[in-house]
Amino acid sequence: MNGVFDSEELTRYFEDGYVIKRGLFSAEEISLLGAAAHGDHALDQAAVARDDGAGNKVRLSLWNHPGDGIYGMLARCRRMVDSVEQLLGGEVYHYHSKMILKDARTGGAWAWHQDYGYWYQNGLLFPDLCSVMIAVDAATKENGCLEVLKGSHRMGRINHVLSGDQAGADLERVTEAEKRLEKIYCEMAPGDTVFFHANTLHCSGPNRSENPRWAMICCYNSAANDPYKESHHPGYTPLEKVDDSEVLRVGQAGGDSRGVEFANLKDKDLSARTLAESRESGS
Ligand code: SIN
Ligand code: MN
Repeated sequence: MNGVFDSEELTRYFEDGYVIKRGLFSAEEISLLGAAAHGDHALDQAAVARDDGAGNKVRLSLWNHPGDGIYGMLARCRRMVDSVEQLLGGEVYHYHSKMILKDARTGGAWAWHQDYGYWYQNGLLFPDLCSVMIAVDAATKENGCLEVLKGSHRMGRINHVLSGDQAGADLERVTEAEKRLEKIYCEMAPGDTVFFHANTLHCSGPNRSENPRWAMICCYNSAANDPYKESHHPGYTPLEKVDDSEVLRVGQAGGDSRGVEFANLKDKDLSARTLAESRESGS
């Protein structure tokens, strides 16, 4: 397969549950993305704020289909999709993308969770999904970079419970896992990316700095893992890959969120709602 990973990086991903690829996007590409996102009124309007339980709020906007704008070019370009296909071992499709708007000083934390802890409810039989976080702004410990527990994907799926606005992994297990597994702070420069397994435990702290920490996260599912029931994220939808050069071309042409329909997250976070519904129905 044609992705960016060599065999050593693939081994690291399989063993550690994540791999960081520095500079996957160039300074020019990422500044076009940053300018488009920070100036995108529709993205801002669609964002929901989620309380982190400590008085801070973290905002996010989400869309299911990648579209033809600059967001879509990042999510559909070969260096992304071919690389995820290397990790998942076959064809993948776009499950959704989101922008995490962790604003300066006020941006809140994310509780420890596994993405599959949320998505399990969506009719996905296997945890054969991968999330790719792209640093739009520099991410540091101070502004709340992503933290992962190395090797935690091997724990399998952990129960997730609602606390406040966020769904998090069962803290008893997280506390024990923290004693045995190394915590990695994924500090990243704009354009760096971290690819992580759907069962990798991750979280992030609040933004205590003067700088925003925005990040785009593209999530992919294996074509072979087509969900057995409908949910708020799409079933198998063939992904049209684009050449890597399309990121710059579309960005320079005034990239915006063209072709992207933001999900309505206004009432409550969809994943949290799904958890609440399953709890109510006793499943
Ligand atoms: C997420 O897991 O969806 C967000 C994590 C972060 O932005 O730190
Ligand atoms: Mn997550």
